[in-house]
Amino acid sequence: MNAIRFCNMKFGCRLSIQSRSVLGFIKSPILNRNLHESPPRFLRFPSFNPTHKPFSVTNPNWGRSRIFPATCCSSSNNNSSNKPGFVANYSTTLETRVNEKNFERIYVQGGGGDLDEGTPLVVETIDKDETVISQGEESRLNNLQNEKLVSKDEGSKTVVDVGRTESESEKEAWRLLKEAVVTYCGSPVGTLAANDPGDKVPLNYDQVFIRDFVPSALAFLLRGEGEIVRNFLLHTLQLQSWEKTVDCYSPGQGLMPASFKIRTVPLDETKVEEVLDPDFGESAIGRVAPVDSGLWWIILLRAYGKITGDYAMQERVDVQTGIKLILNLCLSDGFDMFPSLLVTDGSCMIDRRMGIHGHPLEIQSLFYSALRCAREMLALDEGSKNLVRTINNRLSALSFHIREYYWVDMKKINEIYRYKTEEYSTEATNKFNIYPEQIPHWLMDWIPEEGGYMIGNLQPAHMDFRFFTLGNIWSIVSSLSTPKQNNSILNLIESKWDDLVGQMPVKICYPALELEDWRIITGSDPKNTPWSYHNGGSWPTLLWQFTLACLKMGRAELARKAVDIAEKRLYADHWPEYYDTRSGKFIGKQSRLYQTWTIAGYLTSKMLLENPEKASLLFWEEDYDLLETCVCALSKTSRKKCSRGAAKSQILV
Ligand code: GLC
Repeated sequence: MNAIRFCNMKFGCRLSIQSRSVLGFIKSPILNRNLHESPPRFLRFPSFNPTHKPFSVTNPNWGRSRIFPATCCSSSNNNSSNKPGFVANYSTTLETRVNEKNFERIYVQGGGGDLDEGTPLVVETIDKDETVISQGEESRLNNLQNEKLVSKDEGSKTVVDVGRTESESEKEAWRLLKEAVVTYCGSPVGTLAANDPGDKVPLNYDQVFIRDFVPSALAFLLRGEGEIVRNFLLHTLQLQSWEKTVDCYSPGQGLMPASFKIRTVPLDETKVEEVLDPDFGESAIGRVAPVDSGLWWIILLRAYGKITGDYAMQERVDVQTGIKLILNLCLSDGFDMFPSLLVTDGSCMIDRRMGIHGHPLEIQSLFYSALRCAREMLALDEGSKNLVRTINNRLSALSFHIREYYWVDMKKINEIYRYKTEEYSTEATNKFNIYPEQIPHWLMDWIPEEGGYMIGNLQPAHMDFRFFTLGNIWSIVSSLSTPKQNNSILNLIESKWDDLVGQMPVKICYPALELEDWRIITGSDPKNTPWSYHNGGSWPTLLWQFTLACLKMGRAELARKAVDIAEKRLYADHWPEYYDTRSGKFIGKQSRLYQTWTIAGYLTSKMLLENPEKASLLFWEEDYDLLETCVCALSKTSRKKCSRGAAKSQILV
């Protein structure tokens, strides 16, 4: 049994967070950055060099930024329903042991028992802001299924008007979504990745994944349920400050975990306590880096503000610091020659080896939208001026880079087909030294007369011509691509409907890697066999992003067609995670059932289609100032004229 020591401190005192080591021993607690001037004995801070960074995170507010009045929660050990993290099992048995102004930290001092040595223990909850979240919200959550929502506009709070009787599949989806809600100390904080009662080996699907929670969050927000999203954002913000270690190495501060789990820890013979346990990739299959988590967190934070009208949340000093830390990780200088973000394989939704290391499109489009969100949300003061300038420059360079070099259509492929190689000069046409032989045979036949898309990745002498759906769709949503390109991407999806939608929307990528490619690129991954899982499987969760992109481009009918296809099958098939085969005919080989982001993606799509005006809160229009910045930068090398008109005409608008 682990020996657990409690440490009660007054609000505003030093707050220590236990860190985890995958070597299996407990590291010294580090000082949480919300607290105090004098450095702690065991503090391990990364050093920030203010001369090299666009901003300094060691600002005077930092010390006070992360204090949450926190309470511990415990429940009786002989309560038979002590499965961690479920509303039904905990919300009624939790008791507050310290008052709101106190908080507790517990440290594991020994090994064995229910916890591995090294399991991090943090016990805290976030105070409820009653001005934002009504007390009745939890019970409304429980009544979701029966509730007939009425359109209302409470201040700027958005509530979607269902205005009709929900179908059986919608009713079931809401019930399942509610059942997937995870609570921490009595408050909803996220949703399980999958909640299949028949699944005896859930692996890590019993965790709350940051990326998976986004459609759940949107479904709740559109339905007027803000509390769970607010709690999620604030709790994950706390996890961001953990010291993480993989073997002897500590990844950068600001990293958001891929997922977290609520664990139950025995306190004594009769009591148990809930703790948050994040996974930064140190337990993940393949030890992949969760690069997209922080980007999604920023995107969700903005969506929360837009939909609830609670802008005070993003103005909080701790939230502002959280945004800056994520940006600091993304914007720090490296050896890169391009404005795109350099990442390892499997660092996003495709979280296994699939040959998407380098500068994959999905990461670039999330990066672009996170930068646009951050620019909107950062408090404008002396401290953030440089950062905003850096963001603007990066946005402008990134959009130019992607629009120019990732875009392919008939015309462009024909150009590549005739490329000269070994060109040496700044004026080279074939800048990346792409050998035309690289154009795959499938593409020559596949590319339609009308339409085009962004390729999956670009590196020296390598273009990954696969079509990756999320990256392309999110380029539309975030306006990373031009209005013309946005329409062309949807044209391509429409004309290649059988390949990209088929019997279940939407293919994660097209085409699948086969034979030698599969062997070498996936490392012979038996889960990613051709037309399965990440390798050309069909993922219904992508429906909400597709719907959003279609609504932005005024093509609702296309989204409706996809939702109709999904609706007919998802309910009957028990909400699978993914489908297999070229056309998405079969439920995926190893697909989970009752996958939460499948359920939430479906609900969010339905609500967006019924309330298209709400979609506009979630997408971005073209920013001509950014284009101008880029054209002006190019004009310095006397390649382009510097003006807004030039910007419009020269950057593929
Ligand atoms: C799979 C998916 C990943 C998702 C996770 C939980 O690993 O590839 O994107 O977050 O399952 O659903």
